[in-house]
Amino acid sequence: MKIVKFAGLIAGLFFSGAAYAAAAPEVNFDLGLDLPTFLEYAAGRDQQPAPRQDRAADTPVWISISNEDIKGLGEDFYFYGQQASFQNKATSVFQAKTSELGLLSEAMHEKFHKCAGFFTHETLDSAKSDLSPAPVSASLAYTIDREEQVSGMLKLADEKNLTATINSLSAYKNRYYTSVTGTDASKWLQTYWKQLAAGREDISVAAFRHGWAQESVILTVQGATEAQKIIVLGGHMDSIAGGGGNTVAPGADDNASGIASLTEAIRVLVASGYRPSKTLKFMAYAAEEVGLRGSQEIAAAFKREGRDVAGVIQFDMTNYNGSAEDIFLITDHTNASQNAFLGGLVKTYTDYRLGETKCGYACSDHASWTKNGYPASFPFESSFNDDNPYIHSAKDTLAQSGGHSKHALKFAKLAIAYLVEMAK
Ligand code: BES
Ligand code: ZN
Repeated sequence: MKIVKFAGLIAGLFFSGAAYAAAAPEVNFDLGLDLPTFLEYAAGRDQQPAPRQDRAADTPVWISISNEDIKGLGEDFYFYGQQASFQNKATSVFQAKTSELGLLSEAMHEKFHKCAGFFTHETLDSAKSDLSPAPVSASLAYTIDREEQVSGMLKLADEKNLTATINSLSAYKNRYYTSVTGTDASKWLQTYWKQLAAGREDISVAAFRHGWAQESVILTVQGATEAQKIIVLGGHMDSIAGGGGNTVAPGADDNASGIASLTEAIRVLVASGYRPSKTLKFMAYAAEEVGLRGSQEIAAAFKREGRDVAGVIQFDMTNYNGSAEDIFLITDHTNASQNAFLGGLVKTYTDYRLGETKCGYACSDHASWTKNGYPASFPFESSFNDDNPYIHSAKDTLAQSGGHSKHALKFAKLAIAYLVEMAK
């Protein structure tokens, strides 16, 4: 994404393709250091320019949204009655300010529940590219034949670890993308993932910097034989309630739960000594709640750099058991072949009941990958209509899921089966 609007040397440094590696160096772990020594060492090596504040506080951005969603929202649409900057049959583009993004996302969510997914863009050019349909992603020849490896690893997954992660993340007042606590939560996760990976020289943890304070976090397990092929397992780390950085937004289900499922998959991967052939990337995205901003920048950077992403899976809300079935595959903005493969994984490795459901809009970060032509899937906690009614409020706490993480554990296990069968 070109950040012409944020022009200047610093913006160029942060956003140009060549500078991506410099902006997000990967910290490799050196064997033979004890943890405190290592952390000190890593902190030194990790020295990067201080994150910029959200200089964008009053910067124009562009919102792309489907005309069908606009129609569905009627007068509740944030831009109701306003002239779109650009429009075609399927999509409209409106101009907004970054300071309005929280409110805009709240207005969409509150009024309609079904919300309207929108993509936030930092340039008009980027928004206009949404006027053409998303490329169709290629499908792989999926196979399921690593039963011994997978079932050994599934036994190691432990619900208590998920609860600990959810408690740690939901203890922040909020994880809003421009707030201090949102930044603290991102730093905490970086440190935690680094600790989990300690002792593995093939695993690194890096921050992906954006034009706001909260960084995305990427843990990479370098592939042993086909490292250029990448599998992405992701979920968003930010939370929102009431549209700003000063409200209480524990986001225990949305989406500390998804981060907990991913984090337990990482822990089990390390505990089992598993080494993938392809490269695995675990991503905790910043700024999902304000228009999928973090994942869009990352997916666009991967496309621009020509990276070969063979599969993407999204974990967003995994711990509220609202339906009779256990795992629902979201069928829109996702890849049908990979979804069928996920269904196969659930049937082969678990006794969980499967369902299918639709968001009806670009509801989470999987849509950023789909938009960039990569095959993405999104296994969800319930049917869309039975989802957690407390999200985006101060009441999105672990207590609403019974104070435990039994449901999120199922998604951690699915993540493990997925990564083993995809990265072989
Ligand atoms: N976790 C939600 C998406 C979600 C909510 C999926 C309910 C299924 C059921 C996500 O964090 C979110 O809130 N997304 C926004 C849209 C986004 C583009 C700002 C939403 O749904 O309002
Ligand atoms: Zn949300």
